[in-house]
Formats: sequence, structure tokens, C-alpha cells
Amino acid sequence: MSRNSSYFKGERFNALAKKEGFRSRAAYKLIQIQKDFKLIKSGDNILDLGSAPGGWSQVASNILNGSGSIIAIDLLPMKKITNVDFHQLDLNDIDKINLREISVVLSDIAPNISGVNIIDDENMIALLEIEISIVDKFLQIGGKYLCKCFEGSSLNFLTNKLKDRFEIIKRIKPDASRSTSKECYILGIKKK
Ligand SMILES: C[S@@+](CC[C@H](N)C(=O)[O-])C[C@H]1O[C@@H](n2cnc3c(N)ncnc32)[C@H](O)[C@@H]1O
Repeated sequence: MSRNSSYFKGERFNALAKKEGFRSRAAYKLIQIQKDFKLIKSGDNILDLGSAPGGWSQVASNILNGSGSIIAIDLLPMKKITNVDFHQLDLNDIDKINLREISVVLSDIAPNISGVNIIDDENMIALLEIEISIVDKFLQIGGKYLCKCFEGSSLNFLTNKLKDRFEIIKRIKPDASRSTSKECYILGIKKK
């Protein structure tokens, strides 16, 4: 296996996360997106969907540095992070928490992968539908939405839904994503 392979790239980010105190190598995806698109700014009110073990929440908390707020949810437990209000909750039950106006929605949620494309795509789209209803209800005008999907029907679904809702849409494949994975991210900028 070459040292440039997807496996070694993944290992490099795992080692870096351990060294720099991030809970997941996913943190480096958000760090790169922040560098390229200035996604989060001081004072933002952030919703982090599918937050455990907490890499993105750590990055967001570092950027906010005590300003703004972060609400995070996940099916799994997550250890405390400064300035993060965590709820162990299924996305389907998001109505159980009291959401107010949000300036940035982050979602790294992915369903359990079965390996059967049609099932995985359906499960991903079901989660995206809930996310889009959150964006419609709670994301402020001018707000931003960063979201994971898979190349194929969930990417097409998401692009179609977001093109009328945001002024700018970017498709992103961060370096910390394995190149062999179908995962990609869509960033909606300036909600209409
Ligand atoms: C790739 S991980 C997120 C990593 C995280 N962004 C980080 O930086 O550490 C995806 C997360 O989505 C969560 N998840 C999947 N389905 C969910 C659902 N229906 N409701 C809430 N969380 C869900 C999983 O439990 C998992 O922790």
C-alpha cells in the first residue's frame, strides 16, 4: 500500500487528532472548511447535528471562544465540551428541544451503513428531509448550512432542495475524507 493511499491519509489525520486533542479526525474536515469558507464567526448560534464524539463541536467552540452558542445532538453520548449544550437524542425527536433562531447548521450525520446502496441512500435522504425542515424553520435569513451526503441520489436530492433555498451552493470533499468514501459535503451560503 502506498503512503499516499486513502488508508495512510486517514491514519495521518487519526494520529494528528490524537496529538492535537481532537476527539475525531472529522475535526480536520471542519477546520479545512472553516479556512476555505469562513463558515463560523464570533457570536454565531450553531446547531451541530450528529455531533458525537465531538470533533466538530470542539472546533466550533474554539472559534466562538465563549461568544454565541452551540446546541449539539447525537444518538450516542458525548463528553462535555465548553460552551456546548449537548442533548442525547435521535434527530427524529428534535422537536423535544427548544430551538431558537440559528445562524449555522452543521450536520455530519450519517445512517448506519448497510452496504446496500438503495437502502443507504433512502436512509440518508430520510435524515436530510428532517434537516431541511430544521433549516426552513430555524435557520435565519443569510444563515449557512453544512451537510454530509453521499455521491449519488442523496447528493442529487440535497442539491435540488438547496438550490432554491440558498444563494450559493458549494460541493466539498475535504482532505480528511477518505478518497475511497462516497461521502461528500454540501455548503449552502446565505439562506434566502
Ligand atoms: C461521522 S459521526 C459524527 C462525527 C462528529 N462530527 C465529530 O466531529 O466528532 C456521525 C454521527 O451521527 C450520529 N447519528 C446517526 N444517526 C443519527 C440520528 N438519527 N440522530 C442523531 N444522531 C445520529 C451517529 O451516532 C454518529 O455519532
